[in-house]
Amino acid sequence: MRDFTMENLTEIVHEEYVSKTSDPRLREIMGSLVNHLHAFVKDIQLTEAEWFEAVQFLTATGQMCDEKRQEFILLSDTLGVSMLVDAINHPRSGAGTENTVLGPFYVSGAPDLPMGSNIVKKDSGGTLAFVRGKVTDQDDNPIDGAVLDVWQASVRGFYDVQDPEVPQWNLRGKFTTGPDGKYCLATELPGFYPVPTDGPVGKMLNACGRHAMRPGHLHFVITADGYDRLTTHIFTAGDEYLESDAVFATKSSLVGEYQACEDEALAKEYGLQVPFQLLDFDFGLMRT
Ligand code: BEZ
Ligand code: FE
Repeated sequence: MRDFTMENLTEIVHEEYVSKTSDPRLREIMGSLVNHLHAFVKDIQLTEAEWFEAVQFLTATGQMCDEKRQEFILLSDTLGVSMLVDAINHPRSGAGTENTVLGPFYVSGAPDLPMGSNIVKKDSGGTLAFVRGKVTDQDDNPIDGAVLDVWQASVRGFYDVQDPEVPQWNLRGKFTTGPDGKYCLATELPGFYPVPTDGPVGKMLNACGRHAMRPGHLHFVITADGYDRLTTHIFTAGDEYLESDAVFATKSSLVGEYQACEDEALAKEYGLQVPFQLLDFDFGLMRT
């Protein structure tokens, strides 16, 4: 009978387990996972106490997850894994708007709103902002029927699902373009906020001396028949955390410059009060 040793264990796991996996992609994934995990454990000479702490950390991460909170996505985001997956699956092509992380606070089923609606359902004292632009294809043709699903955190630093003080769907809505591809909506100027730090990921960031802040941003998922789904953000220009986003999701092409605006005609058309912050930002979708 052979002994399992530090030297032969990786090879034996491959022989006895990985190589017997019939699905080729799963075999590739398991093989690489075993290689990297074993190399990692040997590299850092993991102690039993550290191994048990890792087990407890992953257990706590799972226990923190429910239909409103996804601590595993947060773990992936804060370790830069989500952005690696993003980079692999959405390589920069120079055409179309760049992708970035979805984040754990997307909720499907946001209300369909008329173009120009204000998504603020409870005023938290934020600065009024009006965001407008158009959705086009690679050839700059407007896309009719593109659905922009938008959501953001309030100036209190929370999404509606985190904040019992605000009604459901606060700062969320879906807008559908017409033949001109144009969209517009009123909201509050997004400011920086921390990712949730009350769980194991927060403890991990704290132990590593890493801040938890994300620069202000609006989230968008944009879908249209015949086009790739676009998951992206518009970041707020000038935000002090643009260079050090806790989840590594910033891209310079996604930074939007808000301008102070006193356009009375625009204000009247959309029921806004001057002055407000105006942002023009166009989105480009890629044909599937
Ligand atoms: C967010 O922007 O909602 C977010 C993204 C990644 C981790 C946490 C929050
Ligand atoms: Fe966010």
